[in-house]
Amino acid sequence: MSAPALDFTHLHAAIADLARVGAIDGGGCARLALTDEDKEGRDLVMSWMRAQGLAVHTDAIGNVFAVRAGREDGEPVMTGSHIDTVRTGGRFDGNLGVLAGLEVCRALDTAGITTRRPICVAFFTNEEGARFQPDMMGSLVHAGGVSLQDAWAATDSEGKRVGDELQRIGYRGAMTPGTIRPHAYVELHIEQGPVLEEAGITIGAVTGVQGISWTEVVVSGTSAHAGTTPMRLRHDAGYVAGLCSTYARQLTKDMGGAQVATIGAIELRPNLINVIANRARFTLDLRNTDEALLKEAERRAFAFIDAAARAEGCVVERRTLARFEPVEFAPDMIDRVERLARAHGRSVMRLPSGAGHDAQMMARLCPTGMIFVPSVRGLSHNVAEFTHPGDIEAGAVILLDLMLELAES
Ligand code: HGY
Ligand code: MN
Ligand code: MN
Repeated sequence: MSAPALDFTHLHAAIADLARVGAIDGGGCARLALTDEDKEGRDLVMSWMRAQGLAVHTDAIGNVFAVRAGREDGEPVMTGSHIDTVRTGGRFDGNLGVLAGLEVCRALDTAGITTRRPICVAFFTNEEGARFQPDMMGSLVHAGGVSLQDAWAATDSEGKRVGDELQRIGYRGAMTPGTIRPHAYVELHIEQGPVLEEAGITIGAVTGVQGISWTEVVVSGTSAHAGTTPMRLRHDAGYVAGLCSTYARQLTKDMGGAQVATIGAIELRPNLINVIANRARFTLDLRNTDEALLKEAERRAFAFIDAAARAEGCVVERRTLARFEPVEFAPDMIDRVERLARAHGRSVMRLPSGAGHDAQMMARLCPTGMIFVPSVRGLSHNVAEFTHPGDIEAGAVILLDLMLELAES
């Protein structure tokens, strides 16, 4: 039995191979949850899991778990992430955590090591929430945060249901969600923001995940002729949407601190140059590390939206698409990441995650931690997403050591 050593060449090659699935110009990927591209990526990663001799299980929401037996049975030490992407996705978001987990298993095989506890590498369904909401859907079902029926019933913009799409791509598995309860969960992920890079730090010991509030807003007005309708008679849904978009930025200036606000999707109907829009659908993404401040941001935003619609003689309907309070990770897990980073001579800092992650759902079940590595120019959800190979390797080594520590504890 020798000390396990990660095969970095194989890890970088696996990242590149998976990035070929759903590849888009600029080096990124588009594998929206439960699309044919997602299926192709799932099939590829599952083939790698099986080739490594792992016992692979698929649950009823399409989460996939690859288990490496331990000397003893019982709760595994779990790692993983997601392999679905947004439409302008990069090659590291989610994928790194899953593929590094598989590389940890390969290193243990090569070293002839059987850990005391089993090890499990997972990928969770629809972490991104870009096609179906809420995000982190698969891990949320696994953690018991939403029923399987409700998750299956979620629909995309074309009315397609999660349950039917899972069936269509062959990933509506037999295992009951939540069956595999982890002893601990660790996720390696790119930071997706500028903090580590600006601080010149290699490793992030993630303290938790900020709160997330996703709302769909539909404003209904009156379509009318753009030329003949006097301004005083208009009920212009497009104008209201524009006011709200401007307000969202002002809200972050008023609130300051960690408050962020994004109106990422706006659709007008009939969306024609000479017709006043009678319908505007837009999404509002509000996040803050502090729950009370996030609630205050929601209160102000919803009050503005309602007032703006009323003033324009429009009707507004709001629907919550996702709402997760901030999550704190287990202090012991944060300490372990920090200690292991230092033991490897790596610079390390503590920081909260600006992005949502499956880890925030697993934290409901077991001691959970995350390891961040820097994102160049803080870019993610962008095909130019990039993390230096040396940083990927530094993060993967800490994942290996942390998994080993936990699996022998
Ligand atoms: O939106 C998020 O933070 C994650 O990418 N789903
Ligand atoms: Mn991610
Ligand atoms: Mn993402």
